[in-house]
Amino acid sequence: MSRIYQFKYFIVLALLTAVFCLTPVTLARDFYAPDGAMYIGVDYYPEHWPEQRWAEDLRLMHEAGFNVVRVAEFTWVMLEPEEGRFTFDWLDRFLDLAQQHEIKVILGTPTASMPAWVARKYPETLAMKPDGTRSTWGGRKNNCFSDGTYRLLSERITRAMAEHFRNHPAVVGWQTDNEFGGTDCRCHHCRQSFQDWLRTKYGSLDRLNQAWGTHFWGHTVQRWDEITIPDSREGTWAIANPSASLDWMRFTSWLNVRFQGDQVRILRQVCPDHFITHNFMGLFQDMDYYDLARDLDFVSWDNYPVFATMDEPGFAYSPAMAADVMRGLKARNFWIMEQSAGPLGWGSFSRNLRPGELRQIAMQQVAHGADGMLWFRWRTCTAGREQYWHGLLGHDGKPGRRYREAAAAAGDLRKLQDALRGTTVEAPVAMIYDYDSLWALRIQPGFPENQYLANLGRYHRAFLRAGVNVDMVPPDADLSGYRLVVASSLHILPDETADRLTDYVRRGGVLLADIRTGVKDATNLAYDRTLPGRLSQVLGVEIPEYEALYKVRYRLRVEEPLQGDFEASLYADWVEPKGAEALAVYDSWPVQSYAAITRNQYESGKAWYVGTIVPDETFYDRLIGALLSDAGIQPVMTPPAGVEISVRSGEGRRLLFLINHLEKPVTVQVPLEAKSLLGETQTPGEISLPPYGATVLQLVR
Ligand code: GLA
Ligand code: ZN
Repeated sequence: MSRIYQFKYFIVLALLTAVFCLTPVTLARDFYAPDGAMYIGVDYYPEHWPEQRWAEDLRLMHEAGFNVVRVAEFTWVMLEPEEGRFTFDWLDRFLDLAQQHEIKVILGTPTASMPAWVARKYPETLAMKPDGTRSTWGGRKNNCFSDGTYRLLSERITRAMAEHFRNHPAVVGWQTDNEFGGTDCRCHHCRQSFQDWLRTKYGSLDRLNQAWGTHFWGHTVQRWDEITIPDSREGTWAIANPSASLDWMRFTSWLNVRFQGDQVRILRQVCPDHFITHNFMGLFQDMDYYDLARDLDFVSWDNYPVFATMDEPGFAYSPAMAADVMRGLKARNFWIMEQSAGPLGWGSFSRNLRPGELRQIAMQQVAHGADGMLWFRWRTCTAGREQYWHGLLGHDGKPGRRYREAAAAAGDLRKLQDALRGTTVEAPVAMIYDYDSLWALRIQPGFPENQYLANLGRYHRAFLRAGVNVDMVPPDADLSGYRLVVASSLHILPDETADRLTDYVRRGGVLLADIRTGVKDATNLAYDRTLPGRLSQVLGVEIPEYEALYKVRYRLRVEEPLQGDFEASLYADWVEPKGAEALAVYDSWPVQSYAAITRNQYESGKAWYVGTIVPDETFYDRLIGALLSDAGIQPVMTPPAGVEISVRSGEGRRLLFLINHLEKPVTVQVPLEAKSLLGETQTPGEISLPPYGATVLQLVR
């Protein structure tokens, strides 16, 4: 053998060894178990039940086809009963038992509720309320995130747990804390940290004064320690400086991200083979979730749709939008860490899940990119604040209907897991999802109904009704892969974002922008420009005036392709086309000479502007239909009313999900060659779904 040949042989061998050694690590931190199984299970609280019951619970879980539990969040005092003394033996016994039952474990760092001894020894760890008193110990999520003591205590319990459990064969990953959510602590530590954070951000007081526009009301600050926490007046932001308020939102979000970062650093160092995630809250508005997701391997979230629609069963598109937001945080699939299992509530509870609904809620999430599924909770607790937050099992611990439905759902997911692996949602459309604009509109909505999520929701629902998947993306995302971009409510519009959107249209993209876009710069100061500011040219319009509409509605005269009998409500931009065609004009005094909806051909692309809110949802169906046709996007099929479709694709496979949101059976015509992955019998081209039914077809190309 020549030397060269030997050398090549050596390289190949080295590469193979490297691949072999690296693979298990990659797998362990991926969505699926090393054996390729999807993680399916429950949130379990061993400390809530006598130890003699654990084996029975684990046996029932195993029988249901579950292979994972999340445990230990909220058990800090049981793991560290006094400062620096750790008692892990009970959790060891549980982990051993779980391992025997082939159930893997996600450990929660328990810092979302502090032991009584922490509050007693270190009262400064409790968050301070606006009235200057500390919050009372005995709730949860009531700590100060600036306080150094709390951070050290959090690092200590995290490190102790990580070192103790790193080699336990049952442990596969970690959940940091629980539902980070920007506590609004007003202690002097938080005030000082805010001042430091601002000093780092602005460098000089001159720059801060300019950015905050403090010449208004004589609010110029001359020393950093003069800066106060903006007075939020219980969330109404009635009086504080809008720029200061926006920075305060950014700061409190960052405090949580930093706190999580402390834990992640330790977990990465001590447990490099474990994944790290956090349980997000979908459309929750107090955190910049892009930031919170950055340090994690993947996002998980807690989905409680039945709670949101307490009295009205039926259309449930908001969890789909939340799922799209969750997938957009890392442009990656996600998990459900807590999935609705029964009637939900702390004082009063919601309706029960209808037969089939438990599985349907889960399938909807898988359709939008969920690759792991844990139901909250295993068994309804007999103690504490959540006695009415029902689990798969009732208080009596007997496996009943909800248990059986979850087991059946798990069985279906097992049938699907090989086809699902390596696929994600196939979306030809992007919607920009931007926390700066969301926050700025909460601080100053302009008119009360101008809510960021509601505004985006109108378009998102219409896309789902049209059978088109949507990616929710950050404002700096690469848009080149999308044929259509909806940039709704970009109230805060830095010039770079405006230029990127312009460039997107120039290259042939189709863009939609709408009310109150481009009003503010990144510091939440109003631009001294005619609206829509930097987007004026691409949109081909100017908006010299605008108004909120209270109780009045303007009639609209609507042209092709939107045609219909529609009204403008809540708000009206008085739009002057400057090159754009008017697709709808106002038909009421005093705005007859102004347009409400326009479309502009700009270089190779098209840019739409919608300057009002139309109360009739069918308007949005027409609008989205017209946009899709401009963008040349054809849905795989158009679902019948009440049925949602979603497509996941990858690795040469395309999977079509059909989800019935109605409380009655439907028959869906599927005009495509497809085979059912769940093996229902069906006439070709026709699928029958029971109430809350859901199924998955593999499309044959
Ligand atoms: C949240 C939390 C859980 C539990 C449930 C039910 O999502 O993460 O700990 O409190 O709500 O209330
Ligand atoms: Zn504080």
